[in-house]
Amino acid sequence: MGRGREGTRVRATAPGRVNLIGDHSDYTGGYVFPMAVDRGTTVALAVGGDVVDLASDRDPERAVIPLDVDDPTTVRPTWARYVAGVMAELRPAVGGVGAVTTTLPLGAGLSSSAALEVAVALALGFEGSPTDLARLCQRAEGRAFGARTGIMDQLASAAGQAGHCLLIDCTSLSVTPVALPEGLEVVVADSGERRSVAASAYESRRLQCEAAEAEIGPLRLATTEDVSRLAGEVVRRRARHVVTENARVLEFAERIRAGDAAGAGQLMRESHASLRDDFEVSTAALDALVESLARTPGVHGARVTGAGFGGCVVALAETGSPAAGWRLRPADGARVEWQESR
Ligand code: GLA
Repeated sequence: MGRGREGTRVRATAPGRVNLIGDHSDYTGGYVFPMAVDRGTTVALAVGGDVVDLASDRDPERAVIPLDVDDPTTVRPTWARYVAGVMAELRPAVGGVGAVTTTLPLGAGLSSSAALEVAVALALGFEGSPTDLARLCQRAEGRAFGARTGIMDQLASAAGQAGHCLLIDCTSLSVTPVALPEGLEVVVADSGERRSVAASAYESRRLQCEAAEAEIGPLRLATTEDVSRLAGEVVRRRARHVVTENARVLEFAERIRAGDAAGAGQLMRESHASLRDDFEVSTAALDALVESLARTPGVHGARVTGAGFGGCVVALAETGSPAAGWRLRPADGARVEWQESR
């Protein structure tokens, strides 16, 4: 942001996301089917000065980050690393003083971190397409935590559309909104589990997918026959998950367009089994939640959502079903408002 914004006030809000189907498929350029949700993170700033100084409604410690921050990995408190990562990518010419507030559960797999990155980038003056915003925030997360995550979370937060899920092609980054049919709702249940192994297990899955691609080429283009030629048993199962998951996402989009909730729900169950058995990112607590939701009247299907190793499960249910969990609605993507300050 140029110094011309100095003296104005800005308020940027970015939603979290829940992924209905297509997990661990984004970082090999496959397909995902998330929706932005009606909970998110807001950054309100009075623009000015040479630091970004933010209070948080979730942490008594403020983040005070100089504009020339060059190593976000050492910034404290930890949540401020996301802010610093965005600053290191965006290089705003002016800082600001303000606050971060959120209605998202933190670290639960609803992309509270992507929502923070996207809101910070907009509040610090990012201008560009939702795709460029998502790319910048993905790089920011990489800088701040050394994590090689995919593009799904940031793109869902940037490009959400009220009433719609998003079919995203993670190679072309095209986003196709697909309306959530009347009479259906998305229910999200939190296992309460927060596992410290998540980051290293995520990276090891990624490396296994890369090993598969070194043998048989891009998983996005591979068939189950190609996968069966893979030499290692573990790599073969990881690749089988990705290849079958990509096919399930495309089929799921068709089922949703056709209003076939039962067919869509069946694909969610298959996705869960694949994430549990082939990709091995579920836990006993997540499996138990999925099973109990799947037995609930009015629930068409349920699965672990996001990276796994704890966090949430997502279910597709008839409106008014007794399924236990948060009812999350598909929401618009991030937005920003500027006001002259008085
Ligand atoms: C995390 C990552 C995403 C994606 C999911 C798994 O949420 O940030 O890019 O890889 O895990 O689908």
